[in-house]
Amino acid sequence: MSSPSKSMPAAWRKYLILPKLISLSRSAPKNRTVAWDRYWAGIASTGAQSEVLWDSGTDHELLGYRDILVRHFDPGLPVVDVGCGHGGFSRALAAFSPQVTGVDVSDHAVARAQDESAGINNISFVARDMTRPGASAGLAEGTDANVFIRGVLHVLDAADQAAMMENILRLVGVRGRVFLAETNFNGNPVEYVSHLGASRRRIPAPLELAIRKLPMPGRFGPKELARVMPPDRWTLVEDGPTTIETNPLMDAYGDSRIPGYFAVLRGKVPGP
Ligand SMILES: C[S@@+](CC[C@H](N)C(=O)[O-])C[C@H]1O[C@@H](n2cnc3c(N)ncnc32)[C@H](O)[C@@H]1O
Repeated sequence: MSSPSKSMPAAWRKYLILPKLISLSRSAPKNRTVAWDRYWAGIASTGAQSEVLWDSGTDHELLGYRDILVRHFDPGLPVVDVGCGHGGFSRALAAFSPQVTGVDVSDHAVARAQDESAGINNISFVARDMTRPGASAGLAEGTDANVFIRGVLHVLDAADQAAMMENILRLVGVRGRVFLAETNFNGNPVEYVSHLGASRRRIPAPLELAIRKLPMPGRFGPKELARVMPPDRWTLVEDGPTTIETNPLMDAYGDSRIPGYFAVLRGKVPGP
């Protein structure tokens, strides 16, 4: 007799993972700040063979953004990498920016970023919740800054996205620009984890760790951008599809590339 799952249409079979997903994600702390710091505290290593889901271990993705950054970022301004994690992108940015400051809500992420950046002179890191009022203070030493943000907005709820953008608006001032690159997967959470190689039998280790420890991510595309960066506050300069490159460990079972969205914006200076 064939098993009941075999007689199911293939499109439904992936939903058999749902009970496992619910049970794994039950242990994730509800408080997002606590969740992120515990996640980073437990990370033993970063890079291509590590447990960090969104770390491809190369600067290939960043190099794909380089022409856009060169086109829009004033090269004389410092760069603030918001939600920098272990600082992989901050370090890649430091290669062609005068000064980079990475900011992350997690003390453990910042400690790791500092360790991994030892010896690089034009880089520093600060632990700060960028959704808190006034969080932009002191990050750019009194000048306008360019802001780089990758893979952060899609892990925040809409209220926190809006609060973060208020702080970023202050950081960019008149001369700075924001570059953002975010996951914009068109599908529900089961389709998302299936894309990354999760099945009832096996979940790639970096993905399982993220499910167990972190809040379920959403997506961030043009619709979400229009909601949190409205045209009375921001001017959209350029946007389009991109690819978010994740840990290659995902490749064996799923796909280590996630459809994404990038945008460049400038802030609108409030009238008199
Ligand atoms: C998916 S990771 C991306 C890390 C890094 N940008 C990268 O692409 O390698 C999201 C990062 O955002 C940080 N984060 C989450 N909420 C934040 C907040 N409110 N303020 C600052 N950082 C935050 C997390 O600690 C985590 O390091």
